Amino acid sequence: MDIISLIKQRLTETYDLHRRYVNPQFVRVLEVIGFNRNYTSAKGAYLIDEEGREVLDFLAGFGVFNIGRNHPLVAQVLRSMLESGMPSLVQMDAGAVSGLLAEALAGLAPGNLDAVFFTNSGTEGVEGALKFARQATGKSKVVYCERGFHGLTLGALSVNGNEEFRGRNEPLLPGCIPVPFNDLEALASALSGRDVAAFIVEPIQGKGVFIPDDDYLPGVRRLCDEYGALLIADEVQTGFGRTGRMFALNHWNVVPDLLVVSKALSGGYIPIGAIIMKREIHSKVFDSMDRCFAHSNTFGQNDLAMAAGLATLHVLEHENLIERSARVGEYLVNGLKDLASRYELLHEIRGKGLMIGIQFGAPGTFTLKTAWKLLHKMNEDLFCQMITIPLLEKHNILTQVAGHGLDTLKILPPLIIDNAEADCFLDAMDKVLKDAHKFPGSAWTTVKNLGLRTAKTV
Ligand SMILES: Cc1ncc(COP(=O)(O)O)c(C=O)c1O
Repeated sequence: MDIISLIKQRLTETYDLHRRYVNPQFVRVLEVIGFNRNYTSAKGAYLIDEEGREVLDFLAGFGVFNIGRNHPLVAQVLRSMLESGMPSLVQMDAGAVSGLLAEALAGLAPGNLDAVFFTNSGTEGVEGALKFARQATGKSKVVYCERGFHGLTLGALSVNGNEEFRGRNEPLLPGCIPVPFNDLEALASALSGRDVAAFIVEPIQGKGVFIPDDDYLPGVRRLCDEYGALLIADEVQTGFGRTGRMFALNHWNVVPDLLVVSKALSGGYIPIGAIIMKREIHSKVFDSMDRCFAHSNTFGQNDLAMAAGLATLHVLEHENLIERSARVGEYLVNGLKDLASRYELLHEIRGKGLMIGIQFGAPGTFTLKTAWKLLHKMNEDLFCQMITIPLLEKHNILTQVAGHGLDTLKILPPLIIDNAEADCFLDAMDKVLKDAHKFPGSAWTTVKNLGLRTAKTV
C-alpha cells in the first residue's frame, strides 16, 4: 500500500469525504471563513498548502505543537521504536518506556508529585483525576470555575463552565459547583462545608486567556488545605513551556495534589496524557492487589506515545524552548501592547509566555461604535473573524478565536518561533487592524456578508 500516493490521488475529495462521513457542519464553517485549504506538509512553525503557500502556524493544533511540527528528533526516535520490534501493550508486564517517561514526569512536576497514570487525551486525564480525588477523599463534590474548560466527556463536561458545551447533556454529574475564576471568597464559601473532594482549575484559563491575580493560586492552595479538598491543576494546555515555565503553576510556586497534562507531551505525533499525583492519593485508590486495575485503560502506556514523550521532553530541554517561550512571548506582548495604544478596537493584551489573548472591545469613535454594535447584534461571535480571515487570506498566518462570545483572539504559536516570526505577525496585525478601523470599508463588508451567509445556512 502506497499511502502517500493514495493521499495525493484523493486530495481534491478531502472536504467532500468529511462532508459525507465526518462533520458536515464543520466543513461548512471552514468553507464560509475560507479556511478550507488542503495542507500537504509541515515543518517547525510552518504549514504548506497544496498551492505551495507557507502558512505561519500561530494555532499549533490548539497548543499541541510546542516543539514545532514534524520535529526530526521525535521522528527519529519513533522510527527507531518501529524498527526495534519492541512489543508494546503486552499488558501483563511493566513496560520499559512508560517507566522511563513516568520517572521523567515525576522529576519535572512541582513538589512531591511522583505517581503517574497515563491517558490518551486531556479529557481522559480529567476524568481520572476526578475519580482519584473522589476515591482518595471519600467525598463526591467538585468545585470548578466559570468559563473553565476541561474537556467534553461527561465527567469533564460536568466541571466545564461553558454553557454552549453543557447544553443538551443535562443532568450531568451531581455535586459539581461553579465559582467565578480569580475569586477566593467564592471558593472559600464553596469549600466551607468540608464536603468537597476537589477544586479543579486551569492556572490560566484557556477560554479567553484569563490570568489570575498573583495571590489567587497560592490562596487556592491554602483554602484547599484548610477545608480538606484536593487541588487538581489542569495544565493540558498550559503545560510543557507554553507559558514560559515548565508548568504555569511554577509562576506562583504552587504545588497541586493532582496535575493533568496532555497536548504537547508527544510532540503532536501520538495521543498522550498523564495524571501526575501525590503518591498518597495513588495508594488510596490502588490499595490492594485486587484493586491494581481500579482505574485503567488499554492504550495509555503504548510504547510509541511514551517514546515520543521522552523525545519531546529532550527537545524542550536541549533547545531551551521554555526560556524562549518566555522571551519571545514578552516581545510579542510588548509589540501587541504598542498596537493597542494605536488602535481603539484593541483593548487589552493578556499573556504569559506564548499563550496570548488579544482582547477587542467597543471603540469610542461614533461610526465605528455603530458598526461594532450592529455586527454584535447580528452575531456575537463574528468580530474576531474580521481579524482571523485576513490574517490567513492575505498574510498566511493561522489563528483562531479564544472562545464563544468573547471578542478575543488567542495565539498559541510553537515555542520555536523567533523575533522575526513575531515581527511577521505584528506587521500583519498592524495591516489587518488598519483595515478594521476603516468604516465603511471592505473588512466590515466581508464580515457582514459572512454573518448573512451563516444566518441563512443554520
Ligand atoms: C485545559 C484543557 N483541559 C482539557 C482539555 C481536553 O483535552 P482533549 O481535547 O485532549 O480531550 C483541553 C482541550 O483543549 C484543555 O484545553
